[in-house]
Amino acid sequence: MKKIVSGIRPTGSLHLGNYFGALQNFIRLQQLDDADCYFFVADYHSLTTHPHPDDIRGNVKKIIVDYLAAGLDPERVTLYVQSDVPEVIELYLFLNMNAYVGELERCASFKDKVRQNPNNVNAGLLTYPTLMAADILLHHADFVPVGKDQMTHLEMTRSFGNRFNRIYGVDYFKEPQAFNFNNEPIKIPGLNGSTKMGKSEGEGNAIFLDDEPAVLKKKVMRAVTDGGPTQPNQPKPQAIENLFQLMRVVSAPETLAFFEEKWNDMSIRYGDMKKQLAEDMETFVAPIRERIHQFESDDAYIDRVIRQGAEKSRVGARQTVQDVREIVGFRRMD
Ligand code: AMP
Ligand code: TRP
Repeated sequence: MKKIVSGIRPTGSLHLGNYFGALQNFIRLQQLDDADCYFFVADYHSLTTHPHPDDIRGNVKKIIVDYLAAGLDPERVTLYVQSDVPEVIELYLFLNMNAYVGELERCASFKDKVRQNPNNVNAGLLTYPTLMAADILLHHADFVPVGKDQMTHLEMTRSFGNRFNRIYGVDYFKEPQAFNFNNEPIKIPGLNGSTKMGKSEGEGNAIFLDDEPAVLKKKVMRAVTDGGPTQPNQPKPQAIENLFQLMRVVSAPETLAFFEEKWNDMSIRYGDMKKQLAEDMETFVAPIRERIHQFESDDAYIDRVIRQGAEKSRVGARQTVQDVREIVGFRRMD
């Protein structure tokens, strides 16, 4: 059995970037008979930005609903909320003792956050990679399906695990690897010309799995473009490449080929391309959106899923924490 672990922060609805970067892999992994999958809502992680308690509750439910609507089956995978498995915090503490401030400060995602929010550089933000390492090592993950932006964090997870092994002279933590069915980690671009679709990348940049048809269409029709090609077979500027990249994931290969040809012979009409892209996105999103609405109104079911996930996840989590306590020199509590 291979252990698979991944999480998503509860900072709003999931978008197509989350779907193609992460969820699509989760769904394919759950179909494998030799994969033992743990997928969670990283709610402790969201505290770095000080969300209001009501927002946490709502957003956690939102992610679970989106997970289920996208096709995760709680009977096949362990679907849980990070804070329901507080064992991770004890492991986080142990790992923090051997994580160096220098390496945490050098982490690109930390530097980005500092730049974006210079007034809220809290210790939780600095130690984000150790908490993420604890999430992964808690379950002895073999594979971690995540998008390209998470590669540094995974690298740090491996070094924290290896360092623990070295310090204590044990062979306890294994090295988790990134996983993507397409081999290459994928990055879905935004509609505003930015290279990453993201929740916090500004209005209109992301298509959410629960966007209503009119909203979706409007966002796509407003996507950033330019004056059009001026020479045949010319390389595409970023914003235009983005539209093609989005088409690559939601449209049929013939559709993509059709617009590639139009680009190359300079007869492309961005309006037509966007209209087609919006239609193909709508076809993709519609069934998921419908299931989101169904699950949203079934609190009892969501509650059952979350409880069951917490129970399943805690079995292995307790074991890991007790082993680590013993290795470090503390008393086992089991
Ligand atoms: P986040 O929403 O940043 O918590 O990301 C959750 C998961 O979605 C992680 O595995 C990310 O790598 C992935 N992800 C987020 N945005 C994108 C994107 N634009 N392209 C590909 N993967 C993404
Ligand atoms: N850092 C990840 C993100 O921003 C979310 C995350 C937290 C995660 N813990 C994890 C992903 C463990 C994979 C495994 O997307």
